Amino acid sequence: MTILCQPADVPADLISTLGTSVRSVEDLGAALRALTEDPTENLIVVGPAVETGQALEFSARLRLERPAIGVILIREHVDVTVLTDAIRAGVREVVAAGDNDALSAACDHSRALSGHVHGHDEAEPTHHGKVVTVFSAKGGCGKTTVAINLAAALAASETYRVCVVDLDLSFGDVAISVQLDPVRTISDALPMAGHLDTTGAASLVTSYRPGLDMLLAPVTPGDAEKIPASLIGELLAVLRGMYDFVVVDTPAQFSEHVLTAMDVSDHHVLLTTPDTPAMKNLRITLDMLDLLSYSRGIRSVVVNRSDSKVGLSAGDVERVVRSTIEGHVPSSRNVPVSINKGTPIVIATPTHPVSQAITRFARERLLSQSEPVRHRPFARRGAGRR
Ligand SMILES: Nc1ncnc2c1ncn2[C@@H]1O[C@H](COP(=O)(O)OP(=O)(O)O)[C@@H](O)[C@H]1O
Ligand SMILES: [Mg+2]
Repeated sequence: MTILCQPADVPADLISTLGTSVRSVEDLGAALRALTEDPTENLIVVGPAVETGQALEFSARLRLERPAIGVILIREHVDVTVLTDAIRAGVREVVAAGDNDALSAACDHSRALSGHVHGHDEAEPTHHGKVVTVFSAKGGCGKTTVAINLAAALAASETYRVCVVDLDLSFGDVAISVQLDPVRTISDALPMAGHLDTTGAASLVTSYRPGLDMLLAPVTPGDAEKIPASLIGELLAVLRGMYDFVVVDTPAQFSEHVLTAMDVSDHHVLLTTPDTPAMKNLRITLDMLDLLSYSRGIRSVVVNRSDSKVGLSAGDVERVVRSTIEGHVPSSRNVPVSINKGTPIVIATPTHPVSQAITRFARERLLSQSEPVRHRPFARRGAGRR
């Protein structure tokens, strides 16, 4: 499929030169929207009526964000200045208006090149980022808070690229917690199921700040049910090829989707708060994970709001859950305040005790482990879950 961007009347011979499947759009904004809608799009022809500066800016942006897409520029006059600027902006070819043979050849050449770039995309990713799933079987323990702040802590050094995935498909609140507009969500991955690649995945994530992206949960009621667990596995496999860390926020239940994330995770962060219902649920969770043969070596128990006045002591918690505690995050009213302001506390106030606790956990448990521990929970299927 080819997108033709030409605000004025489009000559019929131009359309026929571009082949059968051409989508005509009026401006570059519409071209960008068309690209977002169809991640398989691989060629944009920018007509002579589009201003050169705008066309080059558009091309430079695409080169960074969607390198597999070719941009061909048609100009009334082709001179050395246009050619040099176009090459710098990543335009594949500049063709003189009316030279339909040259345009046709340029299109063929660009499509072949895109196929080549895609071929590289789809190859087994050499980069193997770590997937970290944050889970608790009880709602309100702080999964979303910890997932977002953990991701912010991992991204803070600007050394690592990090993506948060909101797997709370029905009630996800990652977007609202960081005040991102959920224009693109996991639902948009559905048409790509079975052939998702890095270009497609890149079109799904929303950037929060440099080095920290978020894949947001669906917003339309009923959309969550349409998403198969296999798509989550596919998404995580592609995302780990693109990021150093993929931090997965989860709903408070062992859904098929959560287990799919746990299957591919390098680390399970299991949360509790220091109260008996949460600890009972954590104990059940730990037993369940053992039953499903997940390695204990990739597991960390973290107590959120650990200094809560009414709560039990760290020793009490360890005794009840029969597990060592790897992280203690204190309770602070600054946490809900930071969420209402839409800035994770780790970013807003890095010196805050909550930020320091999460950053320390990230450093000691996630950044210090050199190689991800790979594990294959073969026993899971036979352990009674269907
Ligand atoms: N350490 C903390 N101190 C104070 N409030 C917290 C802390 N962690 C989480 N909260 C608050 O608890 C509520 C539930 O947290 P949230 O992260 O949404 O939990 P979950 O995702 O597990 O349902 C939110 O209002 C959040 O601001
Ligand atoms: Mg949540």
